[in-house]
Amino acid sequence: MKSTITLSASYQLEFWAQGPGSIRIVRDDDLLWQVPAFSSHPDFFRYHHREVGVVTLEWDRSEAILWAYGYDPQTVTETGITIFEFGAEGLALRTGPEIDARLRSDPARPVMHFSPIRQWMNDPNGLCKIGETWHIFYQFHPAGTDWGPMHWGHAVSTDLFNWTHLPVFLHPEQNLWRLGATGGAFSGNAFEDRDGSRMFFYTERLPAYDLFKGYREVQKLARPGRGLLHATSVETVIAVRPEADGVDHDFRDPKVWWDEGARAYRMALGSALFGDPAVLLYGSDNLIDWSYLGPIYRAPAHYRENGARAVECPDFFPLGDKWVMLMAFVGYTEPATGRHNLSFALVGEFKDDAFVPDTGELQVLDFGTDFYAMQTFRAGERQVAFAWLFNWEDRKPAGSPYSGEMSLPREISLDSTGRLLMRPSAELQNAWRADPLVREADGSFKLNDAPFELFITGNLEGSRVAATERDALAFEIVVTGGRVSVRLPQDDGRIRYEAECALAADLRIIYDRGIIEIFADNGAICGTRRSYTNIAPDKIEIMSSARFILSERQAV
Ligand code: FRU
Repeated sequence: MKSTITLSASYQLEFWAQGPGSIRIVRDDDLLWQVPAFSSHPDFFRYHHREVGVVTLEWDRSEAILWAYGYDPQTVTETGITIFEFGAEGLALRTGPEIDARLRSDPARPVMHFSPIRQWMNDPNGLCKIGETWHIFYQFHPAGTDWGPMHWGHAVSTDLFNWTHLPVFLHPEQNLWRLGATGGAFSGNAFEDRDGSRMFFYTERLPAYDLFKGYREVQKLARPGRGLLHATSVETVIAVRPEADGVDHDFRDPKVWWDEGARAYRMALGSALFGDPAVLLYGSDNLIDWSYLGPIYRAPAHYRENGARAVECPDFFPLGDKWVMLMAFVGYTEPATGRHNLSFALVGEFKDDAFVPDTGELQVLDFGTDFYAMQTFRAGERQVAFAWLFNWEDRKPAGSPYSGEMSLPREISLDSTGRLLMRPSAELQNAWRADPLVREADGSFKLNDAPFELFITGNLEGSRVAATERDALAFEIVVTGGRVSVRLPQDDGRIRYEAECALAADLRIIYDRGIIEIFADNGAICGTRRSYTNIAPDKIEIMSSARFILSERQAV
């Protein structure tokens, strides 16, 4: 196959390919660049064009090119990447609105929620706002729709809802596919120093040949190049875990801050201490040399005894006059409900490098559990967050071009009793109009294939909300006995997704093609589910003695 395109002087084409197959870039009769034969494992390639001109791309097997895009570094932050879709009919190039239109044409893809154009995505990383631009980085496997060697994908937005996709920001330090290994550029955070310089701290899992043992995780500092397009300088800042102190496996997902109290830099790391999930504290005066200061949290034995292997993606930040610690307990199964991989919050004091929670009781972040690796960041006066809507329980049906979605952007606050509250961020109102739906004669509501939102206020006890697609259950939410629960078609009762509602006086449900986000008690009780069955409900019934408003959400 062949296709002729015009490239600008500094155009870059980046792609991942796996053989058999080959590609050539030709101008007139000159060969400019080629890969004569792709390997039997995925490889990354970058072609850098050097002068304006028309070139012909020639390739033989479209399916060998796993993910490809091009861009001009001068303009890409405004235009976004151009995706290159190699097909039997030739090459299709799509940029900006054409990418959006393409993504929206997939009936199984949520429209309000961020998802990668193609391939696998997990945790949000490096979240930050620079000037008026929001940045989302994410764990990304460019060579497939399953988890694999980790990279950092990148997108920007000015309204938190409409995203411009940018080139891959970080690559693993080695070609892990070639090594037959996993690992790579794992999760981390953005850090802005007091002089305004920006950098990212993250974990590199070095080539690992077994998912659950024998791997080494090191902490790295990445500084971005011009335009924040690529990490251009990367150095290892913590090379060994404190083995002698009882840390002998997981050791990752750094969160760094300048600590006014200590007048020094601090880093929290997710880990395990003698097998108990734990958060470790490191200190530094220069961001390069770090020393271990000890654990700032160690989970009670109950969690280890019920499968918890480590804390992942810890977050630790001041909010008002308190400090908030967020943690995901990987491997944990809650005996009472069967839910696993729960995320928790603790609120307390942080003084002299010691964290003292106000209460020993962990607040469950999300009773639906399809909400993992939440990362927060400061944006002006607000603490904003995204989480990955996944929990390894269910996955997208085979054949989907991508896997993974982010939650709606949320704002984090504390109530007067010190409970953590999460609410959709204010930008939702500007980016998505709410058009109230009208009740049918039988009392139900007809739904169109658009996101919708339901607000119920008053006494929720006895309320039931059931959405169906051609009379088959899409989801059901019930408030009874002071508990809110959510049920999907595939739930067989083995796992119970429910939470106690102290007030049971307000409930907000946002639905977007299989994603159900529930906010109750003013955001103190949140539950998220990602369903892959009956995701286009055509009818919803709301049984409640409380007042409610059901609206369809339309992009502004
Ligand atoms: C959480 C996590 C992190 C890790 C990353 C790897 O989902 O396991 O702990 O950094 O994903 O992709």
